[in-house]
Amino acid sequence: MNFENKCFWITGASSGMGKALALLLGDYHVHLILSDRNFEGLTDVVNEIETKGSKATPVQLDMSDAAAIRLKTEEILAKVGKIDGLYQFAGISQRSLVTETPDVNDRKIMEVNFFGAVTLAKCLLPSMISHGGGQLAVTSSLVGKFGFPYRSAYSASKHALHGYFESLRAENSAFNIKVSILIPGRIQTNISRFALTSDGNEYGKMDPGQANGITAKKAARQILAGLKKEKKEVHVGGKELLMLYFRRFVPSLFYFISSRIKPV
Ligand SMILES: NC(=O)c1ccc[n+]([C@@H]2O[C@H](COP(=O)([O-])OP(=O)(O)OC[C@H]3O[C@@H](n4cnc5c(N)ncnc54)[C@H](OP(=O)(O)O)[C@@H]3O)[C@@H](O)[C@H]2O)c1
Repeated sequence: MNFENKCFWITGASSGMGKALALLLGDYHVHLILSDRNFEGLTDVVNEIETKGSKATPVQLDMSDAAAIRLKTEEILAKVGKIDGLYQFAGISQRSLVTETPDVNDRKIMEVNFFGAVTLAKCLLPSMISHGGGQLAVTSSLVGKFGFPYRSAYSASKHALHGYFESLRAENSAFNIKVSILIPGRIQTNISRFALTSDGNEYGKMDPGQANGITAKKAARQILAGLKKEKKEVHVGGKELLMLYFRRFVPSLFYFISSRIKPV
């Protein structure tokens, strides 16, 4: 992917990895459509991108609202004509045991992390195909590759992204549609602060593992490199990525470790 002078849509752009990637892409004279639930949070990002000589359009969008996603996509496409890449970061996490998590939380997490990402990708795909192709990236997680305590619905929502977007890739590779699945480990962002607990409230703190993780800026550099190479999977993080290899090559060690994780 050559980013120069292209148009990209980033969801979850007001914070964390979405914001950090937007700021890096701002160096390529691009037009960025930046969406988030929190419109005010986008203002600083837009200003910083414009000082780099790129253009940024903020869009308020709740990824759990399918009708709003459809409407905003029509409006944006009518304005810009063509989106070259859709990079989806919007997501919510979870900190609760299976036995204490109400169904409403499971559904909320699936709605934002899975159905929202699917609806937006489906809205843009026909236009990308008619313009000769494009790039789609969705943000999974290490726990999109294996289950993990306190993350049942979150892990399920990320696993679902793999099945869906690998199928989408297989169906559309002939139309020059590139799909990258981003797999972050532990990144210093707000994701655990806003994670849903069993009573539906926010967890409110950063997990120690995450606090010791790489910064969002470093993660965004790894993501940008992976997108540039159009990698099918982009592993993002530090030594915690070893869990992928334990799970694959030493599964007994993986099961031993994961069954001993304690709440923090
Ligand atoms: N940080 C990690 O260690 C880690 C590890 C693996 C995977 N990930 C994934 O990476 C992605 C980016 O997260 P992050 O770590 O950068 O955390 P973050 O800073 O909390 O970013 C998440 C973004 O999603 C937005 N969002 C949440 N619910 C939304 C909704 N209903 N509609 C629209 N936007 C919504 C948030 O904005 P508002 O709250 O303002 O709406 C925020 O901008 C997420 O999909 C997450 O699951 C993170």
